[in-house]
Amino acid sequence: MRARLILLGVLSMCSMCFSQECNTEFLENVDFPGTDKQVLFSPDAAHCQHLCTQYSACQFFTFVRSDWTRDKRHFYCYLKSTPTGQPNRRTPLRGVTSGFSLKPCSPAPQPCLSKVYQNIDFLGADYQTFFTADYEGCQRACTQDPSCQFFTFVNNVFTPENIRNKCHLKFSWSIPQTPVVEATAGVVSGFSHKTQMSQMSDTACQGKLFPNTATQGNFIQSLPTAIAEHCLSLCSAHPSCTFFTFHSENFTCNLKNNQNEMVLRAQAGATSGIPERFCQLDTNWAKVPLDGIDFRSSVIRYVLMDDAETCQRTCTEDVNCQFYTYVHSSFHNSEYWRRCYLKRTITMPSPPKIAKLSNVVSGFTLRNCQGVV
Ligand SMILES: *[C@@H]1O[C@H](CO)[C@@H](O)[C@H](O)[C@H]1NC(C)=O
Repeated sequence: MRARLILLGVLSMCSMCFSQECNTEFLENVDFPGTDKQVLFSPDAAHCQHLCTQYSACQFFTFVRSDWTRDKRHFYCYLKSTPTGQPNRRTPLRGVTSGFSLKPCSPAPQPCLSKVYQNIDFLGADYQTFFTADYEGCQRACTQDPSCQFFTFVNNVFTPENIRNKCHLKFSWSIPQTPVVEATAGVVSGFSHKTQMSQMSDTACQGKLFPNTATQGNFIQSLPTAIAEHCLSLCSAHPSCTFFTFHSENFTCNLKNNQNEMVLRAQAGATSGIPERFCQLDTNWAKVPLDGIDFRSSVIRYVLMDDAETCQRTCTEDVNCQFYTYVHSSFHNSEYWRRCYLKRTITMPSPPKIAKLSNVVSGFTLRNCQGVV
């Protein structure tokens, strides 16, 4: 019964089942009112359009620009969708820019975000700070550090004086997460064979797992994963993760931080491990289908087909797809048989909050820009 209710939720998202046209235009001072699915922050309409492209349920967006005067909602990026895929209404509104998801346009998985933003603060998500001579030095540090997705630099006329020239390196997830993982009979899930689960490097590495072993305390973040190897990839991508414990009975990946000690103890069903950095992790595990596992939510669209292998291939061939769930005809409800759900989460740099602030400069890593690094 529970699984049926869940799949009904997925069914209602089938608004996105049909394909759309590639429409790259920005509509200045036009609002697409209502039908919001999510609100995130963006420094400009172009970033908001990329967020819409990467957010599974987004088909079009409205962005509130810095020249908006009615209230303080600057930099809000409203991600929207409708059953038709088109906005219900288009109304004139000063201070906003609207546009469409680039999903139908074969987008780059990690777009180059080379603009810097004067007098705009990317708040939160800090993992390291130090002083640099200018914002370019801060941006270079961000680009060189695989964990850094964006930065904020405090310039040399900022008040108070004691934090002038301070460079804040900041983190957001750049490898796919699986927001909901559940054991469900009659379904199989897996990843796109092109999904980037590790940083790119010439040096290969394996990571270290301790089977039937748990760690206590030192908790920083809990994420759903189906297997310990995905937990290892997430820990390796997170700048503060020093070790982790994965619990197979509830598909929980606990990221931990303790730079001084790691106390292991025997526990059946738990797997602990140590992250690998500055190398390309072995991600062959991501090619193995997971029987009886449902990656719920995050649906871009579904297509009908006869087997899970075709579903896996369809996901790999779709640049927007990071992971999939296929429903076999052994699933208890025949309404869902043969459905191949294609799914994704946001992996581009995404600041948790953005606001105006005099005498700071913010921007993104240039790792995704060609010819840099
Ligand atoms: C998952 O299971 C482990 C081991 O039983 C437990 O310690 C942990 O609190 C559980 N986590 C969640 C989120 O339920």
